[in-house]
Amino acid sequence: MALYSEKVMDHFRNPRNVGVIENADGVGEVGNAKCGDIMKMYLKIENDIIEDVKFETFGCGSAIASSSMATELIKGRPVSEAAALTNKAVAEALDGLPDYKMHCSVLAEEAIQSALENYYERHPEKKKDKEV
Ligand code: FES
Repeated sequence: MALYSEKVMDHFRNPRNVGVIENADGVGEVGNAKCGDIMKMYLKIENDIIEDVKFETFGCGSAIASSSMATELIKGRPVSEAAALTNKAVAEALDGLPDYKMHCSVLAEEAIQSALENYYERHPEKKKDKEV
């Protein structure tokens, strides 16, 4: 059996939403101290919808595929859905990752969380809405 699914290979070879968003509403950067991989996520948010999302990943193939899939899963979706996205959902959408590569999908979840935190720092009133 192939180690990586077709979807992982596809998103690794043709990653979606790579790049930078100038004037992003939220930017998050996370890293994994063990492997040294880094992921940066940019969010453009309008009316509580993720209007656009881009990423830059300096990392392994699974991290690139995970970030690509994660952006596809949250683009055009409500902020609440992006906030609830788990690494497990990202890995499932990729038709699975080898166990020892699951941490790569964790980076994608954390990068989105970090970008959303940054968004709420810039827009504290939105956080208040969220908590109500
Ligand atoms: Fe570190 Fe994949 S090996 S993110």
